[in-house]
Amino acid sequence: VYLDHNSTTPVDPRVRDAMVPWLGELHGNPSSTHRFGRRAHGAVERARDEVAALLGGDSTEVVFTASGTEANNAVLFGVGRDTGFSGRIVTTALEHPSIQEAADRCAKRGMEVVTVDPGADGVVRVETVLAAVDEATRLVCVMLANNEVGTIQPVAEIAAAGRHRGVPVLCDAVQAVGKIPVDVQSLGADYVTLGGHKFHGPYGAAALWIRPQAAFSALLVGGGQERRRRASTINVSAVVGLGEACRLAREELAERRDWLEAMKARFEAGLAEIAGAVVHGRDAPRLPHTTHVAFLGVEGAALAIRLDLAGYAVSTGAACSSGKVEASRALLAMGTEPAEAIASIRVSFGLTNTLDEVERFLPVLAREVAALRAHEVRA
Ligand SMILES: Cc1ncc(COP(=O)(O)O)c(C=O)c1O
Repeated sequence: VYLDHNSTTPVDPRVRDAMVPWLGELHGNPSSTHRFGRRAHGAVERARDEVAALLGGDSTEVVFTASGTEANNAVLFGVGRDTGFSGRIVTTALEHPSIQEAADRCAKRGMEVVTVDPGADGVVRVETVLAAVDEATRLVCVMLANNEVGTIQPVAEIAAAGRHRGVPVLCDAVQAVGKIPVDVQSLGADYVTLGGHKFHGPYGAAALWIRPQAAFSALLVGGGQERRRRASTINVSAVVGLGEACRLAREELAERRDWLEAMKARFEAGLAEIAGAVVHGRDAPRLPHTTHVAFLGVEGAALAIRLDLAGYAVSTGAACSSGKVEASRALLAMGTEPAEAIASIRVSFGLTNTLDEVERFLPVLAREVAALRAHEVRA
C-alpha cells in the first residue's frame, strides 16, 4: 500500500491517455510554423490555459519547466544574476533543498541569506519573516505547504507586506497545488512554482507562474521558447499531461480534498490509540493528506523499513547519510528534540488509497512500533 504521496503520486490514467498520442502518432516541434508544429503548439497552449485556469492567472504568465527544482532554481539564480549577487535573500528553514541549496550558492557568490525558523507548530510567523526583510532584500522565499510536516504557511500576508515594500516573493507551491486551492491573485506572490508529479501528472513536467510586473532572467538561454523565459524544445507529451492533471485537479479539487481529509482524520484518530505518538504541527493548518508523526523511543528509519516489509510504503523525514541517521531539518527548526525528530515517519495519503487500507494499516503500525520498543528495551 503506497502511503508516500508527498514523494510522488501515480500518474492518473486520464493523464496518461492524454499524453500517449504525443509519444507516437502525433509529433511536431511547437516552434515550427508548418502544420505539424502548429498542432503541437495548439496542444501546448491548451495545456498552458489549464495551468493558468487552475492558478487563477493568465496563460501568458506560465512558463513550463522540467521540474519544480528547476523552477525554484530559475527564480533564485535569476535574482542573483540581476543583482550581481548582492543584497539579501530571506528564506525559511522549512524550504525544500531546491530553494535552500540555491540560496546557499547565492550566498557563496556574495549574497546575504537570512533563514527564518518556524514556530513549534511548523508555521513561520509573518512578523519574524518581515523583521528579516531590510532595504537590501531582493527576494523572500516562503513555501505554501511544507513537504515534510504539511503545514501551510501565511504566504498571502507575507506577500502583501512584500508588495508594500517592493520586495518580490517566491512561493514554492509544489506540495500545495492539486491538494488545496491555490489562487495566485489572493496569494499575491510574484513567483509561484508547481510540479505535475505531486498531483497525478507526469514526472518532469512543472511550471513557474510569473506575475506580469515581476523581473525575470532566464536560467536556460538559447532558443526563444516560452517568450524567452526558458530556452529548450518543449516536452510536448509531458506538458500535455501536466495540463490534463491541472484540469482534473481544478474540476475535482473539493471532492479530492474531502476524501484525503477523511483518510487523514481516520488515521490520526487511530494514532491516539498508540502510546507516545506525537503528530507534528497537529493543530496548525495542514495539507489534507499529510501526517508526520513521532513514536517516542522508536527509530523512524527502522520503523519505515519494517512497515515496508509488512507491505506499507511510508517515508521518514530523516536522511540517512554515511551510515548516520540525521534528523529532519524542518523538525529541528521547529524546535523538536533530535530524539523525537529521528523517531518520526511521514504518512501521505493519495486518491487511490481507501479507508479500508487506513483501517488495516493502523494495527500493523501499532504492532511494528511495539516490536521496535520491545527491541529497544531488550537492548
Ligand atoms: C516543496 C517542494 N518543492 C520542490 C520540490 C521539487 O520538485 P521536483 O521533484 O519537481 O524537482 C519538491 C519535491 O519533493 C517539494 O516537495
